[in-house]
Amino acid sequence: MKSPCVVKIWALIDSGCFGDWVYDALPVEHVKRVLLNRVRVGYTERMKTYFNNIVRRLDNIAAYSVYGEVSMVRGLMIEVEGTHSNISVGERCEIFTRDDAVILAEVIGFRRDTAITMAYGEVAGIKPGARVRILKTDAQIFPTLDWLGRTIDAFATPLDGFGPLPQGDEAYPVKASPLPAHERNRIGKRINLGVKGLNVFTTCCMGQRMGIFSGSGVGKSTLLSMIARFTSADVIVIGLIGERGREVQDFIIDDLGVEGLKRAVVVVATSDDPALTRREAAYTTLAVAEYFRDQGKNVLCLMDSVTRFAMAQREIGLSVGEPPASKGYTPTVFAELPRLLERAGPGRGEGGSITGLFTVLVEGDDLNEPISDAVRGILDGHIVLSRDIAHRNRYPAIDVLGSISRMMPNCNSDSQNQLIDRARSLLSTYRDMEELIRIGAYRQGTSESVDAAIYFNPALENFFRQLKTETFNLEQSFQILAESLEMSEAPPTQSESASVAG
Ligand SMILES: Nc1ncnc2c1ncn2[C@@H]1O[C@H](COP(=O)(O)OP(=O)(O)OP(=O)(O)O)[C@@H](O)[C@H]1O
Ligand SMILES: [Mg+2]
Repeated sequence: MKSPCVVKIWALIDSGCFGDWVYDALPVEHVKRVLLNRVRVGYTERMKTYFNNIVRRLDNIAAYSVYGEVSMVRGLMIEVEGTHSNISVGERCEIFTRDDAVILAEVIGFRRDTAITMAYGEVAGIKPGARVRILKTDAQIFPTLDWLGRTIDAFATPLDGFGPLPQGDEAYPVKASPLPAHERNRIGKRINLGVKGLNVFTTCCMGQRMGIFSGSGVGKSTLLSMIARFTSADVIVIGLIGERGREVQDFIIDDLGVEGLKRAVVVVATSDDPALTRREAAYTTLAVAEYFRDQGKNVLCLMDSVTRFAMAQREIGLSVGEPPASKGYTPTVFAELPRLLERAGPGRGEGGSITGLFTVLVEGDDLNEPISDAVRGILDGHIVLSRDIAHRNRYPAIDVLGSISRMMPNCNSDSQNQLIDRARSLLSTYRDMEELIRIGAYRQGTSESVDAAIYFNPALENFFRQLKTETFNLEQSFQILAESLEMSEAPPTQSESASVAG
């Protein structure tokens, strides 16, 4: 027969909850001995991971607990009395429902002595006077290299049905602060994004942070999925934040595929998840990326989308009574955005880097709306996708003239920069004259530069076209552009190569 302790542990495994009632039942050291014995005795790998995970969690159990009680519930907002000075903003608590289930909540503000919390899930089952226990540890995750190939939620619970998620030894705070600027390495060498239009016109370097901006349905997610599949980064951490549930499976199965998933970790919170969970998933994405960076990997962190993160923060801010500023976005939105985005970037010392690509949904196709404006100011470059170009069925619909990478031109060789300058000037001339050319008001021979722009336009349009299944590395991308412009793209000289790598 199983001892009462073991019975309790089984219950914990099922609920996925590792609360201190294990501690209440028996001394932690004893519980650990029982579990480690079970690992040694030889259970299946799956059970061994479960037991090891519980042993690691036991170390984080507080020696005592502070309880309060629920006084009011309004929507997802729950007011808690009786905690006094034992709780502060950002800390988390567990609320016990009618059926003794546990709902996780976070303190988002105070009204006198009353703590205002917000639930991470459904609030059904919470009654007046329900017990609330304050959790003394901040949100943490314990990543390992074995997380590669896994899909997890905002709390690092596996969503893929591949069994329990192994837990590492080191805790990574979900809401970490960005590395101090003076401790960071310089931006690294160029990274292949697999998309020729981006490789050439918005060349991206390791540790750089870029935004992909467009209105709805112009191709942000598709472009991100091409990058995820074809990039040369060691590890890809993908945060699907607040997007449609349908897109998640499409992304993992069709876009990433089995090979792509092997070097990726996907963090998911869909649009139906509560605001706190959506926001948490964005933080968790960066925490996972930070772990791999510290293992010396060059990480590509993709987030679709930052706008949903901002919207989640707006929802939280408005619930706690923050004043809406521009377009209803509250001041904390603009404080949280840099705290999130700055976590990507070069690492320190021997560590790797986090190259960040974040999509931004531009409301009403207005690039000056507040979130686009704020994000553009924080990042090291932006890729703009244009609805007009998409309407012409030219995908990816990159608007080269509206896009920049702040690492350029220093990251490319002189001959490559000449090529880019030539292409940009042809595109810009064509755009200036486009209306006249279309209505037939331009007479060939009037201007040499306009004639050249008209002559090369079909080749340039063709250059930007790329099927979802195609990939081009940096050299190929420059070579194809050179051929399109009938220019020879000399290979970089020794000194140019050095500057490219630096
Ligand atoms: N490279 C491409 N090739 C062909 N069609 C594309 C490509 N990129 C986008 N599309 C078309 O555009 C549609 C919308 O693309 P996608 O979902 O990537 O846009 P989005 O900007 O992420 O939209 P939302 O803002 O709604 O999330 C796709 O369903 C597809 O029809
Ligand atoms: Mg999308």
